[in-house]
Amino acid sequence: MPDDFEAMWSELAPLGRSAASGGYFRQPFTSVESELRSWFREQCAARELPVEADGNGNLLAWWGAGSDAVLVGSHLDSVLDGGAYDGPLGVVSSLAAIDLLRSRGVAPRRPVAVGAFAEEEGSRFGLACLGSRLASGTTTPESARELRDRDGVPLLDAMAAAGVEPSLGRADWLDRIGCFLELHVEQGRDLVDRERVVGLATEIWPHGRYRFDFTGDANHAGTTRMEDRHDPMLSFAMTALAAGKQARVSGQRATFGRVDVAPNGTNAIPSRVTAWLDARGETDESLVRLVAEIKRQGTERSGRDGTRLEVTSESVSGAVSFDPVLTAGVRSRLADRWGDVPVIPTMAGHDAGILAAAGVPTAMMFVRNPTGVSHSPEEFAEMADCLAGVEALADAIEGLVS
Ligand code: GLV
Ligand code: MN
Ligand code: MN
Repeated sequence: MPDDFEAMWSELAPLGRSAASGGYFRQPFTSVESELRSWFREQCAARELPVEADGNGNLLAWWGAGSDAVLVGSHLDSVLDGGAYDGPLGVVSSLAAIDLLRSRGVAPRRPVAVGAFAEEEGSRFGLACLGSRLASGTTTPESARELRDRDGVPLLDAMAAAGVEPSLGRADWLDRIGCFLELHVEQGRDLVDRERVVGLATEIWPHGRYRFDFTGDANHAGTTRMEDRHDPMLSFAMTALAAGKQARVSGQRATFGRVDVAPNGTNAIPSRVTAWLDARGETDESLVRLVAEIKRQGTERSGRDGTRLEVTSESVSGAVSFDPVLTAGVRSRLADRWGDVPVIPTMAGHDAGILAAAGVPTAMMFVRNPTGVSHSPEEFAEMADCLAGVEALADAIEGLVS
């Protein structure tokens, strides 16, 4: 008898949890992530769902074989000090939905696959949705081979050390997928405000990651007169303020959440500050304008500080509209039990966005999050809402496979 949702959830709860913050550190190809993969394989084995590993770190469990499959699932990795739900909720709900469909006696006329995608957050190798990017050919194996983590460990070495046999590149499972429905915890307050438990997605905002390298001149913190300094920290600080203001006035998003300072000593002016900008815009054009303006203001300030700024675009994902036919079909299937399900945009990136851009008809389903907080230990969903999400997902899958 496979574990039910609550049992699966409590098995996952301690894995990668920080005692200090209560948040999760589930970085890809680490020992904790290996435990998560083993857990996924065990759960699939208990359900007699054969698991396929694609050489990009992704795992797919199959209920039935063949083509035109309905893909569900999400990811098991987290951001640094993340919540329990972003990712695992979609994977665990998918396994529980299969149990529910079996208990309803559903005999699917199309295969159902449950995906657990690798490095969705980009928290270790910097590139979000790495597994789905590689599997869909959106990122080449050559560029992925260049990726290193913060300690300089190459991606392939990390995979091999975790016992994942790397064979990077477009996965042949992609040709067996007819559509993808990713269930995810909501990362805002839309559903809470509407007093609704589940929702669907219209689109993902364009977003990107940009590395800002500010270089200056290291010197003594005491003996260097203020007017003689070339301090890249000041150039960065002003750029961060400008980014926040620019995003606020234009209704977009800009975040510097990661900074690396060299040499990072208290009594020396730094020689270099590297900071990563995460920017998101309502349209592709507004994102380009936002980043250009932040770069312009950073460059101008660097000129005044006698420092230098170089901006490298590390990854940019264009606007994604989810499949309107698939979304409408799921929405009408849900109408009986769930009423008029809200359809809302999201500013977060997802594997669903990568597969949609690669041509897979894709939809997303959200489960209410009473805190509205995500990428933080505060992320939450009530157990009753998680169970409702399982039921809604099962209803949606049933509509697609009957
Ligand atoms: C992924 O969760 C992202 O939007 O960064
Ligand atoms: Mn996330
Ligand atoms: Mn996610």
